[in-house]
Amino acid sequence: MEREKMGGPVEAPLEAILEEERVFPPPPQFREQANVRDPQVYQEAERDPEGFWERWARELTWFQPWEKVLEWDPPWAKWFVGGKTNLAYNCLDRHLMGPRRNKAAIIWEGEPGEVRILTYWELYRQVCRFANALKALGVRKGDRVTIYMPMVPEAAVAMLACARIGAVHSVVFAGFTADALRDRIQDAQAKVLVTAEGLWRRGNILPLKEYADQALEACPTVEKVVVFHRGCKEKEQVPMRRGRDIWWDEAIASAALQCPPEEMDAEDMLYILYTSGTTGKPKGVVHTTGGYMVGIYATTQWVFDIKEGDTYWCTADIGWVTGHSYVIYGPLLCGATTLMYEGAPDWPQRDRWWSIIERHGVTILYTAPTAIRTFMRWGEEWPGRHDLSSLRLLGTVGEPINPEAWVWYWRHIGGGRCPVVDTWWQTETGMIMITPLPGITHCKPGSATLPFPGVRAEVVDERGQPVPPGAGGYLVLTRPWPAMLRVLYGDPERYKVQYWSRFPGVYFTGDGARRDQDGYFWIVGRIDDVVNVSGHRIGTMEVESILVEHPAVAEAAVVGRSHEVKGQALWAFVTLRDDVVAGPSLEEELREHVSKRIGAFARPDRVIFTPELPKTRSGKIMRRLLRDIAEGRALGDVTTLQDPEVVRSLKEQYEHIEGG
Ligand code: WTA
Repeated sequence: MEREKMGGPVEAPLEAILEEERVFPPPPQFREQANVRDPQVYQEAERDPEGFWERWARELTWFQPWEKVLEWDPPWAKWFVGGKTNLAYNCLDRHLMGPRRNKAAIIWEGEPGEVRILTYWELYRQVCRFANALKALGVRKGDRVTIYMPMVPEAAVAMLACARIGAVHSVVFAGFTADALRDRIQDAQAKVLVTAEGLWRRGNILPLKEYADQALEACPTVEKVVVFHRGCKEKEQVPMRRGRDIWWDEAIASAALQCPPEEMDAEDMLYILYTSGTTGKPKGVVHTTGGYMVGIYATTQWVFDIKEGDTYWCTADIGWVTGHSYVIYGPLLCGATTLMYEGAPDWPQRDRWWSIIERHGVTILYTAPTAIRTFMRWGEEWPGRHDLSSLRLLGTVGEPINPEAWVWYWRHIGGGRCPVVDTWWQTETGMIMITPLPGITHCKPGSATLPFPGVRAEVVDERGQPVPPGAGGYLVLTRPWPAMLRVLYGDPERYKVQYWSRFPGVYFTGDGARRDQDGYFWIVGRIDDVVNVSGHRIGTMEVESILVEHPAVAEAAVVGRSHEVKGQALWAFVTLRDDVVAGPSLEEELREHVSKRIGAFARPDRVIFTPELPKTRSGKIMRRLLRDIAEGRALGDVTTLQDPEVVRSLKEQYEHIEGG
């Protein structure tokens, strides 16, 4: 096997590599061909950050140039002021003049095994047709369109079509169920919903249209629903509401093939993407056109080292920001080939991903640590069955990666020859913020290393003062960046309070971090009431408010607990109403209740019944103590506790669970 011939470092036992805290410089062959090799780029960008971003902007097409790169009136930013452009034009039309016209833009594989390849020309045609179809349904610039779709090329087509005509898309992850979809449609006041009758997951059908119909019972703003026929069910089996619902193919049947791109102001809204926050209500993160485009373009070029011949695969779902920025917009801006896969990694077997990489010759793989830890558990034999020698670069995102998983990925997937980029960013940042540059950075497993050129980050204490090396603190961003969120949809006040109030003029990430002697950033994870389960952000308040809606529940507190594979898992502590008796069937019922109302990914691992929740004397639930209990840790300060007996009995229960 190729990998076994590599010798040297790949052979070293994992423990030895971790123990000596090895640093991984860029492999020389990689470095020689890298898009960026000169460490001077950091100093240059630091000297003139606006000039740095402006140089990237000039590589793209603008219908009218900007007058000013940045207007910064904290916390309000405007980038490329006065510039006019169109993101879909830059992703598609720009490539049609040259040799990319017939290049694969999207390689798609469905879970049952179908493969479709759309060239840039073909994708352009489909986007224009669907854009015209949306217009015919009454969608105008600024209108919101909710997209609730499987991972199919039509999802990308729908997003790009919105961008082309200036409609604002709001993609809702297809793993959400009816209630979550309803809340997001209502908040965005969407005019049109684009969905499918279902999607494939491990051979089962997830009935998206059914959920959509339930959600729409309470969404009066939605006038039309476009339904893509995924082929999970016969069309006749799908109830269509007359006058409201229309099949995708009928909607495009009479649509014209030409659709001029709308001239968008750099600051016109591009999309809303809902993400979890510290309250029960999800936040609609707003991204605008020009700055987002430039930030995504620059980071895709440098972090993923995109070349003409690459087959790039980011495994994220389009329902999350990674799917927006690095499945669709980033790679298409670069004229790259982006791969989309619809289904589960263990369908029909645990080597599906490695089979995809081998068959399509994937060169760049970008995925989440939770996936890597799952593959570690399944064992090396699965990737070992396939030739992964096409890979040249690996990336991770979404949660901290433990050094064991990093080294396993580097060795068993990358064959010891591919750099690994651990990229830190958020829905709110829009683009990768802290990351290695694969031709320059000496990586340390577990560290996202350094801010991208032009980006400035800091770790600070309670008073906003930078902490010394090695000390923990809050991760903040101290300078605006082009792809930053501009506001929370319909709630400018929450935008100010949430992100810019703790330290005035400084962006508060909600993450804890430390820096080492070399200035490298080590992200610890969320320090607020957000839990990161398998790379999905879930607000504990959201889960709590769903739990207390159940007739058996009086009160609930939900916390994150570290989990070997998922990073974190949800544990719910619940007090029942007086007349209800706890039992194993009730635990299962409550877990199922959350799963039905939010989505399977939010199902708590455990529901623990307790006659009372630990509270302070002023009646506040002490989540910190619950976290200690869930982690099996010694309890922190209990002096402010109202009734110490409560935690004693919870601890006993915990020991009982762990003991089997
Ligand atoms: C976490 C995903 C450590 C972090 C792009 C952040 C990470 C949240 C990393 C954002 C990383 C993301 N190392 N933690 N490389 N990347 N995170 O909005 O807690 O879904 O605040 O965006 O994921 O999650 P979101």
